[in-house]
Amino acid sequence: MSNTAPVTLRTLQQMKQQGEKIAMLTAYDASFAALLDRAGVDVILVGDTLGQMIQGKSSTLPVTVDDCVYHCSAVRRGTHRALVMADMPFMSYPSVEMALANAARMLKESEVQMVKLECSAAQESIVQAMADQGIPVCAHLGLRPQSVHKLGGYRVQGRDETSAQEMLKQAEVLQLAGADMLLLEAVPADLARQITHQSQVPVIGIGAGADCDGQVLVLYDMLGITAGLLPKFVKNFMQGSDSVESAVRHYVTEVKAASFPAIEHTYS
Ligand code: KIV
Repeated sequence: MSNTAPVTLRTLQQMKQQGEKIAMLTAYDASFAALLDRAGVDVILVGDTLGQMIQGKSSTLPVTVDDCVYHCSAVRRGTHRALVMADMPFMSYPSVEMALANAARMLKESEVQMVKLECSAAQESIVQAMADQGIPVCAHLGLRPQSVHKLGGYRVQGRDETSAQEMLKQAEVLQLAGADMLLLEAVPADLARQITHQSQVPVIGIGAGADCDGQVLVLYDMLGITAGLLPKFVKNFMQGSDSVESAVRHYVTEVKAASFPAIEHTYS
């Protein structure tokens, strides 16, 4: 794919068809967004991890729609090539009406090109309503951090046969409802491979093995800034790099070559 033409949904679909891996990272401000854009990142996610990374909160739950609109606007101003995706924060999509109103703010006020929501079967009608209004949607499956209290912690999802079958079904249902992309977090590699093969839309993994159509990491995790214990799927790309930009370029190269994630970053 050309290194300067703006990345669109169509570009990402073509990348899946042609077997070119999609490199995605989070960013929350214009300066990092510009650096990621220069370094060849295809999709920039303004994740609700801004709660922990920027605001110092203990989870993503306190993040508001206003917070996301603010950070998405900054990221969009720094970005020329990459597609910018906005996370829909906790409780910003409890009904079709609220989901549409809040997603509209992301597209109209921040000018992002896509929104992401953490999905179970309950979000099918919301994904469909967004698709009907022409709003590109990424459905986040597997570990859904906004449900951390319900899940009883940050745990790998889809490890037993019943939950694996349920996730395969949810991926299919959400795609039929109009999801343009799927994101799988903390899912065994075999299950992620099956979902990727059954899906017509690009599937991005974080802790979901090397066979997804692309990869995402939280920027501050892969730059070694985040303190404390990190999930096994994180790799510190600052090790062996002499600048932040070269660390990000190194990440893009490894994602494109499918050498990241390696087996030690993968769940079975
Ligand atoms: O909010 C975020 O940064 C995310 C990634 C972990 C995928 O959703």
